[in-house]
Amino acid sequence: MCKIIFIGNYKGGVGKTTTTLNLAKYFADFDERVLTIDLDPQSSLSEIQVLRHSTLESLDRIPDCETLNYIFDLSIKRIKRYPSLNLKFTDTVVKKANNYSFIPTSLFYRKGIGLDVLAIDMEDRIEYLSILKDYIDTLKNDFDYILIDCPPSSNLITQSAFLMSDYYLIPTVLDSISTNGVIHYIKTVKETYKKYCGNSNDDSILFKHYFGKEPELIGIFYNLIRKQVNYDSADKEFREALLRENIETTIFETEVNNFIDIARSTEVGEVSKVRKDFEDLAKNVLNRVKKMQVAP
Ligand SMILES: Nc1ncnc2c1ncn2[C@@H]1O[C@H](COP(=O)(O)OP(=O)(O)O)[C@@H](O)[C@H]1O
Ligand SMILES: [Mg+2]
Repeated sequence: MCKIIFIGNYKGGVGKTTTTLNLAKYFADFDERVLTIDLDPQSSLSEIQVLRHSTLESLDRIPDCETLNYIFDLSIKRIKRYPSLNLKFTDTVVKKANNYSFIPTSLFYRKGIGLDVLAIDMEDRIEYLSILKDYIDTLKNDFDYILIDCPPSSNLITQSAFLMSDYYLIPTVLDSISTNGVIHYIKTVKETYKKYCGNSNDDSILFKHYFGKEPELIGIFYNLIRKQVNYDSADKEFREALLRENIETTIFETEVNNFIDIARSTEVGEVSKVRKDFEDLAKNVLNRVKKMQVAP
């Protein structure tokens, strides 16, 4: 059964995109069939993944109709103007990078209509919130894991990703502003689910039936660690804050250090050959997800 995991945090620069890329590559190395989805209108994940595609060299060479933007654009038009139209998409949008697949998002779609612009046209209704899930459902049989790179902002597209996902993972840097942000993020995910699926009104029943269970937090991990004097106190404070908020979760013992080779490899869509931090993290994340799957 395919599991959908989003990688999120409202703070930028904590390593969401880097993590998505690394987990995709390592999960695939562990023989899992992986698909990534780039929900960031900035398209950085797509931009580095096309570098690993056999023929596409840059994002602007992807035909408009082979991007996630196209799927949203046409689906929004259908819902607004032609609700009875039976709109089907093929898998031409799914591309290969290294040993896994990805769905690109483009900054160049129709000369600059990014996912953020498309999201403005969406309405807070189930037809719009189901666009992404409806499309992904057609591909799910081909994959074991779908990893979603979430942008550091909230709109109906990211909210629909929360609703359709089974799990999520939060990278953070270790300082008090960032760790407070993590707690806020977890609450937002919970509140989003509750808003649509958790009330006992008519629509909630429908939403819950459609989207299933609330996404479960796989855990939090520290990224961009460098020798810092306040490490122990910052870590302790964070754990205490989580307890105060009654958030029970794993903080992964594997942390990812700040290594220039990780940044350099990411820039070209690769994982670091000399630094194994992300490989260890990927192993632990995968093990944990598998355990969560068998737990009641
Ligand atoms: N462990 C790491 N070591 C070195 N550089 C990193 C590491 N993790 C992320 N980076 C770099 O930090 C920057 C932000 O990472 P990115 O994955 O784009 O964050 P986000 O998607 O959360 O905005 C990028 O330049 C990336 O290469
Ligand atoms: Mg990013």
